[in-house]
Amino acid sequence: MSKPVIIVNFKAYGEVERGGALNLARLCDSVSEETGIAICVCPPTVDLGLVAQSVSVPVLSQNIDPHAAGSATGWVTPSMVKGCGAIGTLINHSEHRIPKNQIEECVELSKGVDLMTVICAENAHAAMHMAGFRPDFIAVEPPELIGGDISVTTANPTVIEDTVEAVKKVNSSVRVLCGAGVKTGEDVSTAIELGTSGVLLASGVVKAKDPAAVLRDLVKHL
Ligand code: G3P
Repeated sequence: MSKPVIIVNFKAYGEVERGGALNLARLCDSVSEETGIAICVCPPTVDLGLVAQSVSVPVLSQNIDPHAAGSATGWVTPSMVKGCGAIGTLINHSEHRIPKNQIEECVELSKGVDLMTVICAENAHAAMHMAGFRPDFIAVEPPELIGGDISVTTANPTVIEDTVEAVKKVNSSVRVLCGAGVKTGEDVSTAIELGTSGVLLASGVVKAKDPAAVLRDLVKHL
């Protein structure tokens, strides 16, 4: 995915239940077409295939499990995610942490089916270790800022700069995103000025009164 990368994580908010995920994904699709900026969407797993078949923007899963195709009842395999039309997946989101050995296995299984990977890390130290698993992206998100009103780009720009530097030292091909409290075009611009390839956000769009207005604002400086 070309820079800037904007990923909207729908999480499990009530707003995306009962058809809400498809409606929001279609809104992201139309703003993306209008502005020429790829706004990636992360719908809940239950809507992944429907959304992937319905929009042109990149669709990612919110999580995957370290299982190959086969007798894996109830698990979400990288192979199934790829097969339903998604292009990538988040791994180890702060609201869905998994053991480090499973993170590495998820990345390896994803590579095997050409599924793009975004490992979430709470700080630069964790990001440095996860860069060794060779994901496509690492998203640094200080958990205490997630869902809040202050963007990480304002509250803690140092964690972003430190993550960019730490990841580059381990593997310069791994690109860095940042998230937590991101809400505006200024936040996106600052994230890029700090050395990231883009942002991961949720409540600023999913819980907005006018998500389309927020989406247009996010990309206004790009
Ligand atoms: O995955 C991104 C998410 O954790 C950030 O949440 O609501 O602070 O944009 P939010």
